[in-house]
Amino acid sequence: MKTIPLSKPFLNAEVREAVNLALESGRYILGEQCAAFERELAEYVGVRHCVLSSSWTAAVMVLHDTMELRPGDEVIVPAHTAFPTIEPLIHRGAVPVFVDVDDTYCIDPAAAEAAVTARTVGIIPVHLYGHPADMDPILAFAAKHGLWLVEDCAQAHGARYRGRRVGSMGTASAFSFYPSKNLAVFGDGGCIMTDDGAIADKVRMLRDHGRTGKYIHQYVGYNLRFNEIQAAGGRVMLRHLDLLNAHRRSVAGRYRERLGELAQMPPEKPWAEAVYHMFVIRTPRRDALAEFLGRRGVGTGVHYPVPNHRQPAIVGRFPALPALPRTEGLVAEILSLPVFGELPLEDVDYVCDQIAEFTRNG
Ligand SMILES: Cc1ncc(COP(=O)(O)O)c(C=O)c1O
Repeated sequence: MKTIPLSKPFLNAEVREAVNLALESGRYILGEQCAAFERELAEYVGVRHCVLSSSWTAAVMVLHDTMELRPGDEVIVPAHTAFPTIEPLIHRGAVPVFVDVDDTYCIDPAAAEAAVTARTVGIIPVHLYGHPADMDPILAFAAKHGLWLVEDCAQAHGARYRGRRVGSMGTASAFSFYPSKNLAVFGDGGCIMTDDGAIADKVRMLRDHGRTGKYIHQYVGYNLRFNEIQAAGGRVMLRHLDLLNAHRRSVAGRYRERLGELAQMPPEKPWAEAVYHMFVIRTPRRDALAEFLGRRGVGTGVHYPVPNHRQPAIVGRFPALPALPRTEGLVAEILSLPVFGELPLEDVDYVCDQIAEFTRNG
């Protein structure tokens, strides 16, 4: 029987060599590799500044500090996203205002605009599963109401919205390099990107004890720095990212071809170039199918089974949590199938064969 994981990080001889060189360099934190990785990431996304940190969550905590998010400020977020999207803002005492998704499974722009109040300061659209959120209406109402906009790009390295790379459209954006992500760094890692030099400078200082010089501290900061060994590995993967994403798109194409009649396929809008961080199908028999595939050696996942406005950490903490029918319908039916940059198409066929058999046998 085959064993096919849900995801698998890219690793080759080039990565090993780059990591070895970094190991031998004698400099381990915020050195040349980190500086080069920041430059290359910014260039790839098409922004002026990138600041690395130890994870997406760390980077966004520092970003929210920089933006001086205050207790009681409201921030509009999709309910259907990874829980970390909302953690940093809650740590600042701000209030997540949960809205429903549209048929892209990303935040619904109309619902988001309807949620704006006098207390709203910002919005965090999430480019979920590698598909961009519908940014133009969101950018328009953010500008109209004077809101900041932080793009959550943790799952969408390289995706494009109407030709523009995600991460280049908001006030700032944040990426994760967790091992399953389209771009990974062999451990935890993350960054923020922005065209705003003042934001970048302050995030840069805060991630490193608020320093302006070795022993001069402009702010009370943190140690949320990045390291040379992971930056060296990440730089190699960045050079392969477009090819790996193209392969993810081929995997998605094969799934669509083979499974289109058997389950509901994920959306890809004509204005989107998705990078398939996940390939998420919908079926009312999700749990039985997941169990069947598990028995056949196929890894699957549910991203995410409990929407954020129903999480134990949230219920009771924020009043008037809404009913969000699209999100609540979705979480009961979604199933993530294996997809990664080096997944052989014959393995995709094996997954499809198993799903066809499951369907045939009722
Ligand atoms: C959409 C989304 N936002 C934020 C995060 C948090 O990233 P990290 O684990 O690097 O803090 C993740 C990853 O889990 C994610 O998928």
